[in-house]
Amino acid sequence: MVEKITNMNKLRGEIFLPGDKSISHRALMFASLANGTSEIFGLSSSEDVRSTMDCLKKLGIKIWNDKDKTYVKGTGLHGFQEPGGVLDAGNSGTTLRLLSGILTGQNFTSTITGDSSLKSRPMKRIIKPLMKIGANIEGGKNQYAPLTIKPGNLKAYEHQLNIASAQVKSCLLLAGLFAQGKTTIVEPSISRNHTEKMLKYLGAELAIEETSVTMEGMPELTSNVINVPGDISAAAFFMIAACLTKDSSIKIKNVGLNPTRTGIVDVLTKMGANFIFQNQETKNNEETGDVLIDSCALHGVEIKGDMIPRVIDEIPVLAVAATQAIGETVIKDARELRVKETDRIEAVVENLRRMGAQVTELEDGMVVPGNQKLTGAEIDSYGDHRIAMAFAVAGLFADGITTIKNPDCVKISHPNFFHQLKELADD
Ligand code: S3P
Repeated sequence: MVEKITNMNKLRGEIFLPGDKSISHRALMFASLANGTSEIFGLSSSEDVRSTMDCLKKLGIKIWNDKDKTYVKGTGLHGFQEPGGVLDAGNSGTTLRLLSGILTGQNFTSTITGDSSLKSRPMKRIIKPLMKIGANIEGGKNQYAPLTIKPGNLKAYEHQLNIASAQVKSCLLLAGLFAQGKTTIVEPSISRNHTEKMLKYLGAELAIEETSVTMEGMPELTSNVINVPGDISAAAFFMIAACLTKDSSIKIKNVGLNPTRTGIVDVLTKMGANFIFQNQETKNNEETGDVLIDSCALHGVEIKGDMIPRVIDEIPVLAVAATQAIGETVIKDARELRVKETDRIEAVVENLRRMGAQVTELEDGMVVPGNQKLTGAEIDSYGDHRIAMAFAVAGLFADGITTIKNPDCVKISHPNFFHQLKELADD
């Protein structure tokens, strides 16, 4: 199957996006660890979140839907049941890494694996620190998934991470739930902090400082109502699409605006975009609001350092935007992109070149000259949802037809993506 994208002007209208994927995974997992039944509004309909739900159900957790709500009957920290078979995290790194943290605290053996992409992503980054605290965890060849986790004896520890990774941080915090005493995680720069915010909301004792978090182990978590805001990473594609197509003006309703995720707003503002925010509020410790954005001219920018973890998932579409900016854009310190669902540096460089753009690949990023004409081409998504969506956006202002191969992979985070894009164009 392929998806064909043609030149579009004028994206107009209002949209609601699927629930934030990161918050949805956490809502399901943490509600499972709480006592009582939690009610979740706005859970993501993505395949990744479905993978988390299926794994939890295999661990004996009751999860059901009623209209727009998802209910999770938590069992407390120690109520999970031994699964009948291997747990399958599909394409989802968050499912595999966060659940591994929880599984190290259980009194049964489990094995967790994923699809071919996930089985080639680094797991040593969780295996090593988990073993340090007494977990009994073993990876396959080169420490890749499948991971087999047996009962261990976990102790509290102060971890110094050498990469800013919310998945690693969250995995270690979740393992720390099962250790007596204080677990501390120090990151080189701040990564998304949904885990900290939600654990606190459900009753854990956490102290958050700039780049460190300390949590008391063995908390009593209590069920609650959790509102999942729209996914700002999904919003990024529409923000850039609106910026770069003529006479556009869109409103994205109820988007998550947690400051550890709003790097896309800060980078686009620096590039010259104008945002208007409405109806801002905070629910279950997460900031949300409506975001309005119109067509605008963008300027090249440097994206590096502490900004990188705040825009890590948005870099493919920012690289596409950079081709249309006035002046050069430099992206560096983003080596982590090479170990996402695919090597996103290579995938972006390869596909931009297919569209006729000049781009220099760096080991940890890329240099994208501005003011470039893109030509419709056949795009290989490499099965990576964010590559497929970034190049669908490129197709909106490229000459001719852009064909996205394997477009179905958008289901990993945003099943309705192509439909919503077309709706905004037809409005
Ligand atoms: C995620 C964290 C990020 C991000 C991923 C989701 C999460 O990865 O790229 O899409 O939900 O914790 P790292 O922070 O591990 O790089």
